[in-house]
Amino acid sequence: MSAENYSKERWATRIGLVLAMAGNAVGLGNFLRFPVQAAQNGGGTFMIPYFISFLLLGIPLMWIEWGIGRYGGTFGHSSAPGMFQALAGPRKKWAKYLGALGLVIPMIVFTYYTYVVSWMLAMSFFSLTGSFFGLGEVDAMRSYLASYQNIADSSYIGGGVTIAFFLFTFCFIAWILSRGVSGGIEKLALYGMPILFLFAFLLMARVLTLPAAAATPAEGLNFIWNPDWGALGNARVWLAAAGQMFFTLSVGMGTIHCYASYLRKKDDVALTGLSTAATNEFAEVVLGGTIAIPAAVVFFGVAGATAIAQGGSYDLGIVAMGVVFQKLPGPQILGQLAAFLWFFLLFIAGATSSVAQASPTIAFLQDEFGWRRKRAAATVAAIGFGLAIFHVLYFRMGVLDEWDYWAGTFGLVVFAAVEIVLFSYIFGINAGWDQLHEGADIRIPGIFKPIMKWVTPAFLAILLGWWGVTEAWPALLMENVTDPATVPYRWVSRLLMLGLTVACLWMIHTAWKRQPQSPTDEGSST
Ligand code: PHE
Repeated sequence: MSAENYSKERWATRIGLVLAMAGNAVGLGNFLRFPVQAAQNGGGTFMIPYFISFLLLGIPLMWIEWGIGRYGGTFGHSSAPGMFQALAGPRKKWAKYLGALGLVIPMIVFTYYTYVVSWMLAMSFFSLTGSFFGLGEVDAMRSYLASYQNIADSSYIGGGVTIAFFLFTFCFIAWILSRGVSGGIEKLALYGMPILFLFAFLLMARVLTLPAAAATPAEGLNFIWNPDWGALGNARVWLAAAGQMFFTLSVGMGTIHCYASYLRKKDDVALTGLSTAATNEFAEVVLGGTIAIPAAVVFFGVAGATAIAQGGSYDLGIVAMGVVFQKLPGPQILGQLAAFLWFFLLFIAGATSSVAQASPTIAFLQDEFGWRRKRAAATVAAIGFGLAIFHVLYFRMGVLDEWDYWAGTFGLVVFAAVEIVLFSYIFGINAGWDQLHEGADIRIPGIFKPIMKWVTPAFLAILLGWWGVTEAWPALLMENVTDPATVPYRWVSRLLMLGLTVACLWMIHTAWKRQPQSPTDEGSST
């Protein structure tokens, strides 16, 4: 079946596509996760493996995913099962099943990520009402957040309020998704991304002009920009840097593939893919790195900020920042306004990523089962909502961490390893290289060809082995679980994830049985 007569959704404008792709990548990872990862791993020490991971993992995988996505799109597939089948050719019938990873991983991430996005909406609302102003200490702010998360019984907030923001956020995301690629996702990015960048610039300017308190803003910047070459021998820092690279660029998920499939056969992927990766890195290291870390360093000092960051992603971005906004010089209302800019920025960043995470499964139902977009979007949102309730109720039982670890940290690397073998070996690097250059606006530097064939796969293999032995295996055995009460909840989490995977495999199986004449099976793209 030909690319041109297969009727599928498309991006309306190139700028819309770029912003949507940037919206997919730029998310809570850039503004919450990155500063914490950097601070936990020694600031400048982290940045060296981070940039090496960008060059050897991030950029090559980004191009490969754009390439696979656009190629799959010409066969009428916008999700990994059909794309992998297209790459492997009609005879290797197993390939489609590997694509289950590209449905399950983003779906799992979608359920808990959207819940966290709803906290950001709540926090921007509470910034305007000033409800946490007056809790000017880290511990007080911590219990405020804990009460919102229904972890601690306290007088602040939580319960119904948490659920109301969660419901509202889910409905909003479902509504955007139901409006389709150009009418929903693209529009959200067209309005949201400029606002996000504007807010981030305003906050950055505010942080950089802060008067010295426990430290100066320059000392804060120094903390992340002073590299320590000796740290290159530290395995933990490498794993953290590579993990952050995956999460922040949204590679190893299936969401970039999905967005790229709405391109036309001759639309550029080489330059556009590179520009979105660069945009994400700008948002991460320049904007993400210049707001939370220096701000926390100014008020808590380097040691203080590092100690707070040990508590996790929310401790820096929500707890420490919540205190910072109360300590800003000037009238309280300016602090409230700055807090609103920060949390609303996080909400936008998160929302544009949430819609990306739900997209592969929606596209799968549309393409392979012929569902209409609205029905597919409503179904996926409803499933996501049902699973997310589990997070709302049992957040304190570590279920979110469990899902984030297996899908959002480990799963991504597995998916990436699978796709690069399919691309560089089964499809073949030569064909792959030509595919990436179809309609390309730039030539990809030749060095990336051996990188895609040898270096990235080797890097992934080492990562997986290393990770498997040092972290994943002990995590699987729950060796690091400190609270035994959480163990049953963690097992239920795992069973749910396993169930989702089996359901996806079964759906793939049924879909291909139903349509033996699907475009992929004809094995031709033109
Ligand atoms: N890259 C996003 C972030 O930095 C998260 C994300 C993961 C988005 C997976 C889409 C898919 O927050």
